[in-house]
Amino acid sequence: MPLKTLITDSPQEAAALLNQGRLVAFPTETVYGLGAGIDFPDAIARIYTAKGRPADNPLIVHVASQAELLTVAAALTPAARRLVECFVPGPLTLVVRKSDRVPDCVTGGLDTVGVRCPAHPVAHRFLNLCNCPVAAPSANRSGRPSATSWQAVQQDLDGRIDAILRGESSDIGLESTIVDCSGPEPLLLRSGAITLEALQEVLPGIRPAAPASEGEAPKSPGLKYPHYAPRAAVQLLTASQAFPLAANAAWIGIGQAPRGARERCSCHTLEEYANSLFSFFRHCDQEGITTIYCQLPPETGLGRAIRDRLQRAAGQH
Ligand code: TXA
Ligand code: MG
Repeated sequence: MPLKTLITDSPQEAAALLNQGRLVAFPTETVYGLGAGIDFPDAIARIYTAKGRPADNPLIVHVASQAELLTVAAALTPAARRLVECFVPGPLTLVVRKSDRVPDCVTGGLDTVGVRCPAHPVAHRFLNLCNCPVAAPSANRSGRPSATSWQAVQQDLDGRIDAILRGESSDIGLESTIVDCSGPEPLLLRSGAITLEALQEVLPGIRPAAPASEGEAPKSPGLKYPHYAPRAAVQLLTASQAFPLAANAAWIGIGQAPRGARERCSCHTLEEYANSLFSFFRHCDQEGITTIYCQLPPETGLGRAIRDRLQRAAGQH
């Protein structure tokens, strides 16, 4: 029996439901999250069922403040402390050794936890009213593009979760930057709006994690699964490649859209590209597009995060 999924504008109502062990989607500045209180193992299990998420993929724990962040971390390395000072609250997830406050069902048995304190007024109000930290993956069906609006959450999860806390569309539109600070050297696990260059200003030694070699466990369990894919095929175009004339094709990139594309999303900036990408993928699926041609931006700044999502969507990881 499908559930009735409540849509609410009230952080109070949403938090009251979460505090009773229900599943509540909520807005953040990166993408929408699908939340359950970490003190409710049944609700945590329901996150996996609702999303169709592989059971070994750990969840990010969301907190309302730096003080609450310290309750889920066993210890912070000097690098983690610097990142907290500079980027928390914000679109950053820190992987740190977990405290006993965090149950194994949230971390898939790992002794580390991903923790994030969003800088989003509605998320902040909601998390403040929750009686415990909130485990939340992105609020999409597993493998699909992340949801950047409440309508996209509804499209994927209506009847499978208890409520959606309605907010504006996400400002950034790509998931948080993830930095592993659990070891001696900080490693960038997932690129996002806090760019590698910005991280290097405060941690000169940080570098992207090397891809896991054959037989080795990836640093971030989620990175081994297919991701962010629309139903349409995703084709990547380098700067020198022209848009091929094809029926039922769409185009997204920076600058003037090619004439032959049936659906187009021409962006002015990398920020706009990041912000439009997942909603454009979803739009193309609704319009029956069969191939989406995506311009690859240069691998600097926010371009690194966009390229990462494009390459995953195209099945290149
Ligand atoms: O912006 C975001 O990060 C959004 C919003 C809702 O906060 N959340 C999000 O969650 O993108 P999710 O579950 O879709 O992606 C989290 C990624 C997964 O690839 C997971 O494997 C990784 O973070 N992760 C979580 N805990 C980890 C840990 N302890 N060590 C390494 N990777 C971890
Ligand atoms: Mg996700």
